[in-house]
Amino acid sequence: MKKDYVCLERINRRIVNILDGLQLHIGVFNSMEQKEIVQFIYDLQNRGRNNELGEHTYSESKKWMRGKGRVTIQFGCCYNYAEKNGIPPGILRNGIVDPIPNLFKIMINRLITSHVLPISCVPDSCIINIYEPGDCIPPHIDSHDFIRPFCTVSFLSKCNIIFGHKIKIVGPGEFIGSASIPLPVGSVLVLNGNGANLAKHCIPAVSYKRISVTFRKIDKAKQPHNFKFDSDFQNIKYSDFSDVSESYHTKKGVPL
Ligand code: OGA
Ligand code: MN
Repeated sequence: MKKDYVCLERINRRIVNILDGLQLHIGVFNSMEQKEIVQFIYDLQNRGRNNELGEHTYSESKKWMRGKGRVTIQFGCCYNYAEKNGIPPGILRNGIVDPIPNLFKIMINRLITSHVLPISCVPDSCIINIYEPGDCIPPHIDSHDFIRPFCTVSFLSKCNIIFGHKIKIVGPGEFIGSASIPLPVGSVLVLNGNGANLAKHCIPAVSYKRISVTFRKIDKAKQPHNFKFDSDFQNIKYSDFSDVSESYHTKKGVPL
């Protein structure tokens, strides 16, 4: 199931659909698969806490204010969010992160074979966001170090993502934009066109624990110096997902 969106805003005296290019795909990952993916992410989080992941893979920012405690785990490249010591936000070409784990490659395979992402945009990086209640992502446009379209998969609890040409910050984790889109668990939001490049987006402080995984393809000119294209992941099949999900599909009569 797929949805497109319309939200008209007047920008420079023109009426524009700021959500043009956005698509929400519902039910891309079933509940068994969601469970397996979430468990895997918790295992990664534990390994990150124990310093068992690459230097820049796991980061847990200090909770100095509400909405700033998000845990992020990055694979494929190291993205630096904030201007730090004169280094502008963007992919750190010398940053050390781990390669994309197999389960995420299987998710990527699903995104391509179910036509959520085009074959020209096979993601080679991903970032996991783990939100505790109160955590948010402030308004932003994703870096152009990543090509369009890219997408975000939602887990654990439903939340709303806000879009707007301008988004008002009314308090910590409180934002007002012109459109609010609910993101059900197991859904994939694809960002392209105006929805990715003209409108900003943000996640207001969540009420319940939530996990998202954002998959993006790195612009060729921005690839890290040690970048290596992963050859094995073209060969992954749905049936590799796991024995559990395979029996689930078979029982429900859904073709693999
Ligand atoms: C991001 C982002 C949205 C989400 O990481 O850039 O916008 O649903 N994430 O977590
Ligand atoms: Mn974003």
